[in-house]
Amino acid sequence: MEHFIKSNPGNLSSSKEVRDFYERYPYPGPLDNLDKYRQRPDDRQRKLADHFLYKPHIPFTEDSSVLIAGCGTSQAAKHAMRLPGSKVTGIDFSETSVNCTLKLKKKYELNNLEVHRLEIEKVNELGLKFDKIICTGVLHHLKDPDAGLSALREVLKPGGAMQLMVYAPYGRAGIYMMQEFCRLAGISANEKGIHDLTEILRSLPPGHPLEKLIRDAPDFLHDGSIADSLLNPQDRAYTVTQLFELVKNAGMKFVRWVRQAPYSYHCGVMSQLPVKNDISKLTQEEQFSAAELFRGTMVRHSIIAYRNDDPSGTQQVSFKNDNINIKNEWLKYIPIRVPETICITDRLPKDIDAAAVLINRTHAYRDLILPIGKSEKKLFDSIDGIKSIGEITDGINDNMNNESITDPAAKFFEQLWWYDQVVFNTSEAGNN
Ligand SMILES: C[S@@+](CC[C@H](N)C(=O)[O-])C[C@H]1O[C@@H](n2cnc3c(N)ncnc32)[C@H](O)[C@@H]1O
Repeated sequence: MEHFIKSNPGNLSSSKEVRDFYERYPYPGPLDNLDKYRQRPDDRQRKLADHFLYKPHIPFTEDSSVLIAGCGTSQAAKHAMRLPGSKVTGIDFSETSVNCTLKLKKKYELNNLEVHRLEIEKVNELGLKFDKIICTGVLHHLKDPDAGLSALREVLKPGGAMQLMVYAPYGRAGIYMMQEFCRLAGISANEKGIHDLTEILRSLPPGHPLEKLIRDAPDFLHDGSIADSLLNPQDRAYTVTQLFELVKNAGMKFVRWVRQAPYSYHCGVMSQLPVKNDISKLTQEEQFSAAELFRGTMVRHSIIAYRNDDPSGTQQVSFKNDNINIKNEWLKYIPIRVPETICITDRLPKDIDAAAVLINRTHAYRDLILPIGKSEKKLFDSIDGIKSIGEITDGINDNMNNESITDPAAKFFEQLWWYDQVVFNTSEAGNN
């Protein structure tokens, strides 16, 4: 494992080899039905939550231009369906991926979608700048990911935001072992290779590090997935530290994790560790690294990043009274529920003394459920995406001295935020 975590050069193949690979094995498998991505009744709620995840300090607007870099077969078309008010541009160097996207554009009359066969490294040839760039599952396949990310940075508008997803090494140890096995055994990306590999994976000895990944991803054994994960000519993974380095080298700054609870020592089992206080004294990047090492099974990292010349700070959500002139600014934050969350009140496990349990269904770790008491549930139920924390606490405690609710409320709303239950609209607060 050492070789891909330490220097992590990957198997440096030419981009032509990677392009040919994705022309033969487009990823994800081609889709011809996007009906489930049509506008939904709760779309306004989703759009609000999405906007304030990326830009908590900016009042809600729809992004006018979105770039999907390395869009694969359907990602750009899905975004165009969901965001009819935005102009979506997809680029990919695989002709197969571009053609699949064009078919979807035609079928669903997506007039807000443009698709180009273009290398990420040459994205400036479009002559366009974007409010938002989404690049997921792509940079780790580039020969020079730093150059790719720098090119994307150049087409991000100042004040824009980027979502990046790259592979993480520790949880993918089994994949890298099997890639090495394929190299040794001479298994190539062709029909015979995939057939042989399917047989081999069915015979994996119990306890092999790849076993859990196959169990957790039901489509792992499909030809396209096997090829993409085990026979890809170019694939490297990033530890937290390496990812921060990649972001910094490209003139970007880390803003937050798309889902931050797994990286936080405030959440789940990590908040109970005997060394919690020691971890709290580390830099934030070290805290995140500690979480990655402790959890041990992360397979990818998804982050939001800004240009490093973005005028807003990286940490726009703060419950500290850092500024002595402006106290309790967080009372002006407006909490917005994240759509993937659920609040369970019946049949709670007997060992949990709680009025409800909050779950974010996108969390892979079970310890990240959040039990809450009766008074916390009242605060939680008052979240409507319109009232600020100050208005919520006032409304609940008409009969109580306001002082008495302030501290527990700060603690609770900060906890909801760390657990990915809410995002905040902080645009009314004075510290932006
Ligand atoms: C694993 S797929 C991910 C697709 C999509 N982003 C998603 O998340 O569903 C990687 C895609 O990136 C494209 N790609 C890889 N390197 C690229 C490059 N240098 N320029 C443009 N596209 C590239 C591939 O053709 C492929 O379609």
